[in-house]
Amino acid sequence: MSDFLTHLYARAGKLNKTVALAEAFDGRVVKAGEIAANNKIANIVLIGDEAATKAKFPEIDYTNIKFANPNKHPKLAEYTKLLFELRKSKGMTEAQAAEIIKQPLYFGAIMLKAGDVDGMVGGAVYSSGDVLRAALQVIKGAPGINTVSSCFVMVPPDGFKYCDAPAMIFSDCAVVPYPSAEQLADIVSASYMSAKSIVQITPKIAMLSFSTKGSAKHESIDKVTAAYNLVKQSHPDYLVDGELQLDAAIVPSVGSQKAPGSGVAGNANVLIFPNLDAGNIGYKLAQRFGGCMAIGPIMQGLDKPVNDLSRGCVAEDVVAAIGITVLQSVK
Ligand SMILES: CC(C)(COP(=O)(O)OP(=O)(O)OC[C@H]1O[C@@H](n2cnc3c(N)ncnc32)[C@H](O)[C@@H]1OP(=O)(O)O)[C@@H](O)C(=O)NCCC(=O)NCCS
Repeated sequence: MSDFLTHLYARAGKLNKTVALAEAFDGRVVKAGEIAANNKIANIVLIGDEAATKAKFPEIDYTNIKFANPNKHPKLAEYTKLLFELRKSKGMTEAQAAEIIKQPLYFGAIMLKAGDVDGMVGGAVYSSGDVLRAALQVIKGAPGINTVSSCFVMVPPDGFKYCDAPAMIFSDCAVVPYPSAEQLADIVSASYMSAKSIVQITPKIAMLSFSTKGSAKHESIDKVTAAYNLVKQSHPDYLVDGELQLDAAIVPSVGSQKAPGSGVAGNANVLIFPNLDAGNIGYKLAQRFGGCMAIGPIMQGLDKPVNDLSRGCVAEDVVAAIGITVLQSVK
């Protein structure tokens, strides 16, 4: 296990928080719950039927795991009412709320809203859109946050030559398909917070493009420079530069050649992609070609933490998402 994860789990363990896992019917998730609970990374609540889960996965040690069954939970009526109250202005009826609450993602989100757990992880089986919609509709953005986005925590392999930080932040790779300049500026602020709170580094933020400092002209570059100007206005203290090409952002010799005098170029540890195509492809390149461990997508800007998983995840990825969810639950 990387030093980053060892440290992350030790930090999470000290907080004694409870995380709901929405997919008790998936073996990777149940295994991750066992690992997280037995290693005291988090208290674990599996959303699902206890007897059915135990019958399906008899090899798991359930000693430290609790269950919450959406079909016969003691607080089912209370949770249904809470969901109805939250969504009635959007046209949800009481009958619809009574049906939707039985969906594990909504049940977990409502448990979180009610304060009965401290975070939720889902998405090993459900699609990202389903996880995100439950989070956005029930938990919503934190006060003052207009754009909920996501990041990947990218843990480099041993001997990685591009960054000396224990992990990098890549954003947004999973939520906002084509951000406006204002949304891109929000993504920068949220990623700054993620770098500080999750990785505990001084963020050096590169706003990426196919141009460096005016080397090309296109409206998509104009959007990145507009977002950069917004960030500089609202956060003059940030170490941020843009627009930068990826090589200028992470290779010192290229950075000093293409963006001389930049405090970020060549040494960036937070990469902000101009849109979801670039972000999603970019993180997978670093993961598959570069050998980085990709943890996420980690949601940024929600009022309480809900985190998504890749459907190709393994149990260790789920444990990492649980650890990060615990850290995000501290305001
Ligand atoms: C995130 C996503 C699911 C939202 O979809 P959507 O169609 O806007 O969902 P909804 O219309 O049901 O929106 C739900 C609520 O969230 C809000 N919302 C949507 N995106 C938001 C964002 N980025 N930040 C804050 N709020 C947001 C909506 O305003 C809405 O609020 P309301 O219902 O209380 O008025 C959509 O942008 C999406 O599919 N993104 C890509 C996800 C994906 O497939 N990623 C794959 C890569 S891993």
